[in-house]
Amino acid sequence: MLGTGLIGTFYTMSLHGQRSRDQVVAIYSRTEERARAFADQWRIPKTYTDMKAAIEDPDVDVVVIGLPNNQHEEAVLLAAAAGKGVLCTKPLARTAAEAKRMLDAVERAGVFHGYLEDLAYTPKTLKALRSVQNGALGKVLWTRSREAHPGPHSDWFWDPKMSGGGAIVDLGCHCIEIGRNYIGKDIRPVEAMCWAATQVKPIDAEDNAIGLVKYENGAISQFEVSWTYRGGMDLRDEVAGTEGNIRTDHFLRTGFEMFTGVGLGGYVAEKTESESGWLFPVGDEVHELGYTDMFSDMFNAIDNGTEPMETFYDGYVVNAIMDACYRSAESKKWEPVELEVWRGKTGLEDTRTVNDYDEDHYLIKEELLPDGRRKVIIKHKQSGELSQKIV
Ligand SMILES: NC(=O)c1ccc[n+]([C@@H]2O[C@H](COP(=O)([O-])OP(=O)(O)OC[C@H]3O[C@@H](n4cnc5c(N)ncnc54)[C@H](O)[C@@H]3O)[C@@H](O)[C@H]2O)c1
Repeated sequence: MLGTGLIGTFYTMSLHGQRSRDQVVAIYSRTEERARAFADQWRIPKTYTDMKAAIEDPDVDVVVIGLPNNQHEEAVLLAAAAGKGVLCTKPLARTAAEAKRMLDAVERAGVFHGYLEDLAYTPKTLKALRSVQNGALGKVLWTRSREAHPGPHSDWFWDPKMSGGGAIVDLGCHCIEIGRNYIGKDIRPVEAMCWAATQVKPIDAEDNAIGLVKYENGAISQFEVSWTYRGGMDLRDEVAGTEGNIRTDHFLRTGFEMFTGVGLGGYVAEKTESESGWLFPVGDEVHELGYTDMFSDMFNAIDNGTEPMETFYDGYVVNAIMDACYRSAESKKWEPVELEVWRGKTGLEDTRTVNDYDEDHYLIKEELLPDGRRKVIIKHKQSGELSQKIV
């Protein structure tokens, strides 16, 4: 485990929590003091302050990267050189070019690679994804994903030289990949339009952004991200298709609400701002954030010699979309998503799903009115004339 910060903690809790055969055998941190404290807390046998030595430890089969974004590439290159499987947290990289170098390194070395995009693995998302993939919503037309909180917990996130950007790179990466999963990861993202602004914080990056990603089959994916949203972490997703829609709320409103006048006396849930008054705790945080199912998928894939649901290639595509978003925020225009390598379908058309009413008409809409009459609105196939009738 590389890193003893917030994500190193969540990952270790998750790894030691579910499949007891998985074990963090070595922890890397910059200081021996922090490494020792982390190792004691999680009963990890070995500590390292040298990243290369940690990766090369003979007891290490898989390297888990929980380091600041500017150190992902170095860690991946070291893991690939050591012939170790590697699981990297989000965002895979700061730019698509960096992500591509990392993808090339793991593929050239032939090592297992997984992209730790936990929010594609939340229990609700996994269940919703199965429904979408089974066709329960018909053709997916639109997705919306929102990730907003009061801002990150460490200095390096706020420095775009280290992090690669602001709320887009930190939170938009989750939203974009959730949208890709719903629309279909084999559908090519073609262009992006984005608004990004620094509305509150004195930083050289965006603290708020909204983006649209257009896919080759006509589907559109919307994301909303904020580092200045007060009151906790808001994680919500929606997906709408020709036959239905799904809404999920993963964190702030999960059905667990409590009031305490005296306070909880400690941690409530990630990014919660108060410990008293109305609180929205989360039942099993590592599970509800997707970490548990994510690591099960990763380690089952390693055991079975298969690919996990999220690979470095997915991380690369997400980075390419974010690059287009940053260009669009500057140019104020739709910008193409530039993918050096595309491994999905090609040449798809933006086709409309049209329903017949009868031989001569298309059905536009049918509705039961408040007075009990049923109305249909139809369009003549030849003349194009619109009409309505009560049936
Ligand atoms: N939901 C998620 O998947 C999720 C959530 C939080 C963070 N992350 C990702 O995990 C990575 C680490 O984030 P975090 O929240 O654990 O950060 P953090 O600041 O809490 O921890 C970072 C850790 O990296 C190590 N480190 C090594 N060199 C460092 C340096 N020069 N500066 C600072 N730390 C250094 C330290 O051990 C430190 O504890 C980032 O890529 C972040 O995007 C993912």
